[in-house]
Amino acid sequence: MDTDEQLQLTPEHLAVRTLGPLTVPSPLDGGLLERGESMHYVGEHDRVLVDGTLGVATKRGVPVEELPTFEPGGPRRTLFFDPKKTKVGIVTCGGLCPGLNNVIRGLVGELAEHYGVHSVLGFRDGYLGLTPDGAEPLELTPESVRWINQQGGTVLGTSRGGQDPRVMVETLRLRHIDILFVIGGDGSLRGAQTIADEAQRRGLPIAVVGVPKTIDNDIPWIDRSFGFQTAFGRAAESIRAAATEARSHPGGVGLVKLMGRHSGFIAAYATLASDDVDLVLIPEVPMPLEGERGVLAHVERTLDRQGHALVVVAEGYGQDMFAGTEGGADPSGNAKLFDIGKKLRDELTSHLTATGTRFQLRYVDPGYAIRSVPANSHDSVYCTRLAQAAVHAAMAGRTATVAGRWHGRFVNLPIPLVTHSRNQVDPRGDLWLSVLEATGQPVHV
Ligand code: F6P
Repeated sequence: MDTDEQLQLTPEHLAVRTLGPLTVPSPLDGGLLERGESMHYVGEHDRVLVDGTLGVATKRGVPVEELPTFEPGGPRRTLFFDPKKTKVGIVTCGGLCPGLNNVIRGLVGELAEHYGVHSVLGFRDGYLGLTPDGAEPLELTPESVRWINQQGGTVLGTSRGGQDPRVMVETLRLRHIDILFVIGGDGSLRGAQTIADEAQRRGLPIAVVGVPKTIDNDIPWIDRSFGFQTAFGRAAESIRAAATEARSHPGGVGLVKLMGRHSGFIAAYATLASDDVDLVLIPEVPMPLEGERGVLAHVERTLDRQGHALVVVAEGYGQDMFAGTEGGADPSGNAKLFDIGKKLRDELTSHLTATGTRFQLRYVDPGYAIRSVPANSHDSVYCTRLAQAAVHAAMAGRTATVAGRWHGRFVNLPIPLVTHSRNQVDPRGDLWLSVLEATGQPVHV
C-alpha cells in the first residue's frame, strides 16, 4: 500500500463494529489483566498509531489526538459474552496454508482453558459446512486438538467459494452459535463480512471474527499473514535444490516456479533467503522476455559470465504474454492463470538453442508442497498469538473484525479495510531494492 492510500485513511475506515456494551466481568486472572503497558502491549484504552513515520503523520496536518489509529488487540476487563453460556464455531476456508491447525488449536485452548467456554464446533469444509449440504460439525475440545499443530492442512477441511449468507446465518442460529471464527484470506473474509451483515440485519448478536490466512501475504494493513514465513522457507529449499543442480552441470540453468498470483512476496523472500538467484520475476514488475534488458538476454549473459544461471518466477508474472484467456475463474473468483513456468522453460530452451549457448535446464515446480506442511516455529508462535487475539476480540463483542498485527502490535481491524485493497511488492520500495541488489538483474519498474 502506498503513502497516498495511507493518507486517505480516516477514523471511520478504522472503526471496529461491536455488538453492544461490555457488562460481563472477564474470568481471565489478574496476571493477564493487570500487566503494565510496554513497547509491545497496548492497554485497552490506548490506541495504536497507523503511521510509522513522522513524515506521513506530519503531512496529515492534524493534532496528535486526531491521527488515525487502530484499536489495540488483547483481553478486556469486561466482556459482551458470558463465557459459560457462549457457543462458538470455527471454519477454515480457501487454499491450504501452514498453521491452520495451530490457529484452530489456539482458538480452542484460549476459549476453553482461559475463558471457560464449554462448546466449540468445527464446521467442515469451509463455508459449505455452514449449509445443510455440509458434513456434520466436529466437537472441538482441548484434548481433541492437542496434537493437530504437528500436521499440515486443516483438520476441519476447507473449500473455496462462498455460500448464501442467509443460509449460513440460519445454520448459526439453529446451532445457537454466538461467535464464528473464520480462518481465511481475502475472499473468505469478504464472506465473513456478509455473514456479520446478515446477522446484524436479522438482529442476531453473532460475532464474526477473522484470522488472516494466506501464503501470498497479500492482505493489507497486517504486518504479515500467518503461514507466509513457512511457505517462503519451503520455497527457498526448492531454490537451493535448483541452484545445486544448476551449479553442478556445465551451462546449468535452474528455473523455479512459485505460487503468487498477484503478489510476488513468496518469490521475493525466498530469493533473498537463498541468495543464489540471478533473476526473479513477479506479477508487480513487468519485465519483457525479449530485448537487451529482457529475461532471455539476461539469462544468456549470466550463463556466459558464470557458467550457470538461476531464475525464479511467480505464477502471476507475465500473464499478458498469453493470447486470449485461460478461461473462467476458480470458485473463489480468481481468474485461472496460464502456466508461465512452462512457457519460460520453452522460451529459454528455444532462445539458448538458437544462440548456440551450451545449457542444461532443470525446471522445478514445488507447487502445493510449500503450503501443505506444518507451520515452522515462528509461524507457530504467530498463529497461537493471533488466535488468542481473535478470542479476546470476539469475547468483547467485536464483529466483522480481523485480528492482525501492525508494526509489531496486535490490533483489531475492520474487515472492509483489509479486503478493500491488496498488499503487493512495491517495485520502488525497499524490499524490491534488496531483491535487485541480491540478484543483479536489470531494473524495470
Ligand atoms: O491463495 C493462496 C494460493 O496458495 C495461491 O498462491 C495459489 O495461486 C492458489 O492458492 C492455488 O490454490 P488452489 O489451487 O488450491 O485453488
